[in-house]
Amino acid sequence: MTAINPVTDLSREGDVAVITINNPPVNALGLLVREGLIAALDVAGKDAAVRAILLICAGRTFIAGADISEFGKPPSGPGFMETQNAFDAAQKPLVAAIHGTALGGGLETAMCCHYRVAVASAKFGQPEVNLGLIPGAGGTQRLPRLAGVPKALEMVATGKPIGAADALANGLIDEIVPGDLKAGAMDFIARLLASGKGIRRTRDLNDKVTGDFAAIFSFAKGQNMRGFEAPLDAINAVEAATKLPFDEGIAFEQKLFLARMMSAQSAALRYLFFAERKVAKIPDVPDDTPTLEIKKVGIIGAGTMGGGIAMNFATAGIPVTILEMKQEALDHGLGVVKKNYDSSAAKGRFTAEEAQKRFSLLTGTLKMEDLGDCDLIIEAVFERMDIKKDVFAKLDKIAKPGAIMASNTSFLNIDEIAAVTSRPDHVLGLHFFSPANVMKLLEIVRGAKTSKPVVATAMKLAKTIGKVGVLVGVAYGFVGNRMLAARSVEADKMVMEGAFPWDIDKVLVKFGFPMGGFAMWDLAGLDLGWVKEESHGETLRDLLNEAGRKGQKTGGGYYDYDAARKPTPSPVTEKLLTDLWAKKGISPRAIPEQEILERSLYPMINEGAKILEEGKASRASDIDIVWLYGYGFPAWRGGPMFYADSIGLDTVLAGVRKYGWTPSALLEKLVAEKKKFADL
Ligand code: 3HC
Ligand code: NAI
Repeated sequence: MTAINPVTDLSREGDVAVITINNPPVNALGLLVREGLIAALDVAGKDAAVRAILLICAGRTFIAGADISEFGKPPSGPGFMETQNAFDAAQKPLVAAIHGTALGGGLETAMCCHYRVAVASAKFGQPEVNLGLIPGAGGTQRLPRLAGVPKALEMVATGKPIGAADALANGLIDEIVPGDLKAGAMDFIARLLASGKGIRRTRDLNDKVTGDFAAIFSFAKGQNMRGFEAPLDAINAVEAATKLPFDEGIAFEQKLFLARMMSAQSAALRYLFFAERKVAKIPDVPDDTPTLEIKKVGIIGAGTMGGGIAMNFATAGIPVTILEMKQEALDHGLGVVKKNYDSSAAKGRFTAEEAQKRFSLLTGTLKMEDLGDCDLIIEAVFERMDIKKDVFAKLDKIAKPGAIMASNTSFLNIDEIAAVTSRPDHVLGLHFFSPANVMKLLEIVRGAKTSKPVVATAMKLAKTIGKVGVLVGVAYGFVGNRMLAARSVEADKMVMEGAFPWDIDKVLVKFGFPMGGFAMWDLAGLDLGWVKEESHGETLRDLLNEAGRKGQKTGGGYYDYDAARKPTPSPVTEKLLTDLWAKKGISPRAIPEQEILERSLYPMINEGAKILEEGKASRASDIDIVWLYGYGFPAWRGGPMFYADSIGLDTVLAGVRKYGWTPSALLEKLVAEKKKFADL
């Protein structure tokens, strides 16, 4: 075994040279790997005893892509082009042996080899669009040559990986190795050499890119790209593979790749890639903090949230006991869960047996004592402090020692709830988002006394149930709803100045949100947190609630809805609002789009800054993750705090002052110091 460099080894086994890449954690195709590959190919190429070359990786995965941390920095050493050229120059058969994930530059490297074998669990993908990029190491030219145009288009435009069986069926790989990868690959090479088949450069395979693909490309280009710029470039680059000779196709790809690399969207998406990984790290709760085992979960309340929350655990194979006050409520709650599972099975997401298996992990009860053996109990009853306190006081008496007690409250003070128990160190908030079985965000609310093992357990649990856990502090509405409330207050003010709800929503949708704030209210229910007795008919929301227009569930709210739930501006809402303006003597004015945008986003950013100032979030990027996964903030804008950095905090502060809000002290400080949220 020769160490070519710290991440590349070369050995000879019989007449096969074995190049092993060992660049933990994911064997990213950084500078050293590129240098190592080029040098190893050279040495193996010159060794007369070598008849074939095997490329394999140590550790958990094959090369999982380019090294994203190199992007945006000045290039150094050999680039992707030189690396591809070294593979294409090889005069001996090259075989890649793949395990884990061959993604981005990793799959591209594998495609530079002449043959590919993989274990059955391997995954293959070109996820560059998720980073605002397109494949930049030949992927758009080699993938269609191997897997065909439709498969290549799907992979580069959506970024979604495929499994080994799919890859084999499409010709992306040559064989699935049943047992040990290296032994299987060596066996493949022995058969290859015996068969007399030699090198087979992907660049020379033109069958699958020859033909008329006009209809396929026109369909692909017509898809809704939701504001993402990269997919269209990726499609165009694959189209080039069908129209241009290989080298010209590669040059076309390079041009688009480099332009994408410089784009604002890619900067935002790359930022989010690292933000999403940072969010799991809590400054004062180290990775080796002991965690508690969660083998059984209890849920109190089988309403909108309780049922959805229960599904997360059942789906992860964890049994759940659900407590309700009355049999009818329990039956109704479990019925909704059953319907959800059955309809997912009917759509082919999983089998009917799987649906049954998941549902069978749920047990209903009317007796709190039945939660006595649960390791974690999540309360999801009505949003009222007196009721929550009552529930927690009772729960404290029956929960086993060491059990974690969590509240799914949207706004209420976790410390106040914890104070009615004898074990506030085991109490925290687990704030799921609706629909709880779908939305990926989980705000993990750390109370003043919540212990570190309890925090660490919750963070780990979020991963187990497929959520992105974000640790937040106790504050009214925590992070997400607190910022949303700031936006809503201003939206309601704009409505009272002359904007229709849809005028405001339209600006947010244009900005990239999947829906505006008023459409969101219609989805959540206008009566959420609305108290009839306290209504004075002074706001549009009061009037709509009083008219029975409580949102989608009643057929209409701010908007009217058709059978397919498509919203249209409601004449009823329009009349209610114009009457309200008249009653209050308001002369409505048309609010310019830019003003609507500023008055929607700046209050959120200012509130986000206050959240940071108060230490209720660990870092600005955590806030961006909350908005990405909880509220559909357009990913390609990076989140509210990244967006603020990108337009300049001085601009935001000037806006905050112009509209007369109290600026966050942190925002003022950062502007004075000419800094960004990212510098914190
Ligand atoms: N570059 C740099 N660092 C990377 C990386 C990459 N491509 N992929 C992962 N990492 C780092 C992560 O930041 C993380 O670091 P940390 O421990 O310090 O936080 C560590 O590796 C482990 O990553 P995960 O926590 O994500 O580990 P998982 O096991 O959950 O997932 C994975 C592994 C599926 C490989 C996932 O990391 C992933 O999807 N990575 C990105 C893959 C990708 O996008 N590749 C394409 C890159 S662009 C490209 O290749 C351009 C080319 O066409 C030229
Ligand atoms: P819901 O009204 O749909 O369900 C509450 C359920 O709790 C009802 O079925 C009720 O019978 C039951 N319940 C009340 N007291 C109980 C008790 N003492 N013991 C057992 N069951 C009891 O309410 P929803 O929407 O599910 O909200 C629950 C909690 O989740 C609230 O704190 C809410 O703020 C929070 N939340 C709600 C979201 C939403 O979009 N609906 C989103 C995130 C959090």
